[in-house]
Amino acid sequence: MTIDTPLTELVGVRHPLVQTGMGWVAGPRLVSATANAGGLGILASATMTVEQLRSAVREVKSRTDAPFGVNLRADAGDAAERARIIVDEGVKAASFALAPSRELIARLKDAGVVVIPSVGARRHAEKVAAWGADAVVVQGGEGGGHTGSVATTVLLPQVVDAVDIPVIAAGGFHDGRGLVAALAYGAAGIAMGTRFLLTSDSTVPDPVKARYLAAAVQDVTVTTQVDGLPHRMLRSELVDTLERSGRAASLWRAVRHAAAFRRETGMSWAAMVRDGLAMKHGRELTWSQVLLAASTPMLLRAAMVDGRTDLGVMAAGQVAGVIDDLPSCAELVDRIMAEAHAVLHRLPDAG
Ligand SMILES: Cc1cc2nc3c(=O)[nH]c(=O)nc-3n(C[C@H](O)[C@H](O)[C@H](O)COP(=O)(O)O)c2cc1C
Repeated sequence: MTIDTPLTELVGVRHPLVQTGMGWVAGPRLVSATANAGGLGILASATMTVEQLRSAVREVKSRTDAPFGVNLRADAGDAAERARIIVDEGVKAASFALAPSRELIARLKDAGVVVIPSVGARRHAEKVAAWGADAVVVQGGEGGGHTGSVATTVLLPQVVDAVDIPVIAAGGFHDGRGLVAALAYGAAGIAMGTRFLLTSDSTVPDPVKARYLAAAVQDVTVTTQVDGLPHRMLRSELVDTLERSGRAASLWRAVRHAAAFRRETGMSWAAMVRDGLAMKHGRELTWSQVLLAASTPMLLRAAMVDGRTDLGVMAAGQVAGVIDDLPSCAELVDRIMAEAHAVLHRLPDAG
């Protein structure tokens, strides 16, 4: 059972389902499992070194012949090198963590890569469409990780009306009903982060998955205290501490985590400052916010890799509150598509 949409045509996948790039979570195992299930899996590369990206791409290719994508930071100092790997290795699609850049979109498109930026506001969708993006992921405020404040139900139709490229709905999706609802709004498919994190193919440690499964909708919160940007995550001991602690303590913590990220990735301080400057460019961010942002990958890693539910950031969409199982990607994709077909048949006859 398939549903053909402009998204399935554009990237050549069987189902209009995207597994989004999630730092430390969307690695080769999850991406290849999604690809083999017929969805578009996207590797998260913002938390990888260039060499790790190259070997992750090769690992996915060794596990599947199906198309997949790579998520990268357009403002990273080595973005051009990463783009070259994407092109040389024949990766089908690219998406961006945080804001995209016009130059990178052009470079990737010229080389035949399908470019799908994520946006959280209509004007950003209009901008990337004008820059030549092939499709756009629209994330409503329910979505996990960095997120906006406008709900998917309001933002999605707004963006569908504003641009002529395929729109993929994100933020709050987990089942076949949601897929049909998104298609009804005019979307070409759905993109899911939290739902794919909570699969048996995801490498996130079991105690962390257990926290997500136990969470109620009210346990998912938005805080700016981690990195200065609105960030949706599970409320935890860490979030409570950050929200109580003063500015000096936050900055000291950020310096320590930024230093750890530098050691982990082998990045030089000069490269970190360059990335920080790029991040600051065109935004209303103070240096302390930039520093806080640089520390975020380590906090995410503490949970997603090391299993530290007490010390790590557990980025999550509100949908974590309604998910209570860990299917494989294949089971999940099959289930969503079967539900979508059942829902379509149950819809009242308009004739
Ligand atoms: C644990 C986690 C890590 C994430 N990391 C990234 C990232 O590195 N790059 C990115 O573009 N989006 C990231 N996101 C956002 C997701 O890609 C996606 O847009 C979001 O999860 C969609 O909302 P949903 O969780 O309701 O499905 C992350 C989300 C989560 C839950």
